[in-house]
Amino acid sequence: DRETTILGIETSCDETAAAVVARSPKGQGTIRADIVYSQLDLHAAYGGVVPEIAARSHVSVLDRLVKKALVEADIELSALDGIAATAGPGLVGGLMVGLMTGKALALVTGKPLYAINHLEGHALTARLTDGLNFPYLLLLVSGGHTQIVLVRGVGDYRRWGTTIDDALGEAFDKTAKLLDLPYPGGPAVERAATSGDPGRFPLPVPLKGTAEPNFSFSGLKTAVRQAAEAAAPLSDQDVSDLCAAFQRAVCRSLADRMQIALRRFRSQYPECTQPALVIAGGVAANTALRTTLDACASGAGFRLVAPPIALCTDNAAMIAWAAAERLAIGLPADSLDIAPRARWP
Ligand code: KG4
Ligand code: ZN
Repeated sequence: DRETTILGIETSCDETAAAVVARSPKGQGTIRADIVYSQLDLHAAYGGVVPEIAARSHVSVLDRLVKKALVEADIELSALDGIAATAGPGLVGGLMVGLMTGKALALVTGKPLYAINHLEGHALTARLTDGLNFPYLLLLVSGGHTQIVLVRGVGDYRRWGTTIDDALGEAFDKTAKLLDLPYPGGPAVERAATSGDPGRFPLPVPLKGTAEPNFSFSGLKTAVRQAAEAAAPLSDQDVSDLCAAFQRAVCRSLADRMQIALRRFRSQYPECTQPALVIAGGVAANTALRTTLDACASGAGFRLVAPPIALCTDNAAMIAWAAAERLAIGLPADSLDIAPRARWP
């Protein structure tokens, strides 16, 4: 019945991050330090994340970030209640760096180690930022994941929908690449789309009308490629029109898929008077998508909860928080023998 404070480490992709988060006995979270070092510049030239470069960069900056987080939070290692590190899913080289660092710190301090599932971090963030109660619905849309998750409790999740091919962020990135837009593609496509006519190129709305709330984006990307080839050589206006059409098809697909999940939530939890739909992941930065989901949520009587972008994208505060939540309900810490998992549903 006291405040707990956790150091979190995140290295599953191309962000090196360290954070210190406290949790009050009543379940209120406070971020005492939250440091993210983005490797974007290192990977931009390759048009995507290069795993070997990512892992080496994590090695070279993580120690300093951990130290900086502790200084910013004004806390000694000895005063922590636990060390949390992302153990998967993600790029295994990077996961090894973060998890081994977490293990080393846990070993020398004698503090418990929490090996956290990155997706659980995303799933619980809305409780840190908005104090949300269970259950709620989560839409996770990032470069690596596209999932609808029912969050019933800490460690209690049901995946209702997922992508059967590309992740949404990946689809934005690939679409940008084929239109010669810079990496990362999401912001570039969004920017180009603002001056585009979404109606000029008719594109399919993936999986529209199918019964399960799954996603598919590779066919849409192919349709963009075909339209681009037919219209070549492309003017700036052509590119803008294609981006606008792509974004509109994505939004229509998300709206159609989310309807199913929102209805299902309603029928499973009729007693839930103020149900919430939480969005997380880098693609949640997209304004058109937010507007669509906002309309979709309020139309179904849901409140749309969008944590600040810095906490929607990869960070270590969510990893520390997930550990604090586990500790609070008495879930056991992890063994120092635990191995990172590239795949971990
Ligand atoms: O969550 P995130 O930072 O990293 C992981 O994938 O874990 O997400 C990055 C993804 C990239 O694919 C990027 O293109 C996409 O999010 N993204 C966007 C926007 N900003 C970032 N997609 C669409 N619109 C945006 N404004
Ligand atoms: Zn992520």
